[in-house]
Amino acid sequence: MRRLRRTESLRALVRETSVTPGDLIYPLFLCPGEGVRRPIGSMPGVFNLSIDEAVREAEEAARLGLGGLLLFGLPETKDEQGTGAYDDNGIVQRGLRALKVSGAAKNLVLIGDVCLCEYTSHGHCGMIAETRDGWTVDNDSSLKLLARTAVSQAKAGADVVAPSDMMDGRVAAIRKALDEEDCKDTPILSYASKFASAFYGPFREAADSAPQFGDRRSYQMDGANLREAMREIDLDLNEGADMILMKPAMPYLDVIRAARERTGVPIGAYQVSGEYSMLQAAFEKGWLDRDRATLESLLGIRRAGADFIVTYFAKDAAKLLG
Ligand code: PBG
Repeated sequence: MRRLRRTESLRALVRETSVTPGDLIYPLFLCPGEGVRRPIGSMPGVFNLSIDEAVREAEEAARLGLGGLLLFGLPETKDEQGTGAYDDNGIVQRGLRALKVSGAAKNLVLIGDVCLCEYTSHGHCGMIAETRDGWTVDNDSSLKLLARTAVSQAKAGADVVAPSDMMDGRVAAIRKALDEEDCKDTPILSYASKFASAFYGPFREAADSAPQFGDRRSYQMDGANLREAMREIDLDLNEGADMILMKPAMPYLDVIRAARERTGVPIGAYQVSGEYSMLQAAFEKGWLDRDRATLESLLGIRRAGADFIVTYFAKDAAKLLG
């Protein structure tokens, strides 16, 4: 075996998997104001960006040859219904228009995160309803609002909409609304299998979206369940998803592999905030080699079967690959 490992050119010739900048999607957290670049404590190198700063970030992302941007929003105000998510003048909608108008995003796929948790005062991904024994995140009333959010983002310039809420039937509801509202060409990237994960912790600081009571285990998946993840994928594809996103990535590489073997649709994987933060913490301590561990973490996700990766390392990795 060692004959083919002798030189870098031999190793390059027989390399089975690659990561290129175009495979990487860079998440941005848009916030109100101007000239704002607010660091996220638990995610070194990640910021809340006002729209003007996001435009500059997009220019750099395009220069580096990244595949696209995934847009999250921190609204000025939150309410019970998450109005900011489907406001045509909401933070993501304004960001999308600015990115399109500036031309900054010309070669980038702009993906809108469709969820209510950043916009609701309670921090849940759907509507809260009272029940006999307390409260629940109500599925069907949430669908309408998610569909409105997707349409509003598509009209503002999203190339792709990506529902991350995990309500049942939302892909069908979003597809129907997009088709009725003259957005037939907008594809849906559904977070088909999204597990209730401790690794989202730092994101909730970045997006200010931590649930104010309870947790997300009644709508996100139980981490133990691989067969159920396959059912989620089948359902989303039947409802009209064009691509699927798997999340988190590193603790669930087997789920990505199983998805790859099950379907021919494009598969993305989300290397989530906690995966990024734990590597950053180890880099800061000098315990891991920053450059090599960054690329190895992405290569593993590609090898598991993901076509593209949403990652906070997108810019760093593109520079290394450059
Ligand atoms: C919103 C959403 C979350 C993430 C992406 N979209 C948080 C959550 O479900 O609590 C997590 C991303 C990350 O951790 O980087 N529904």
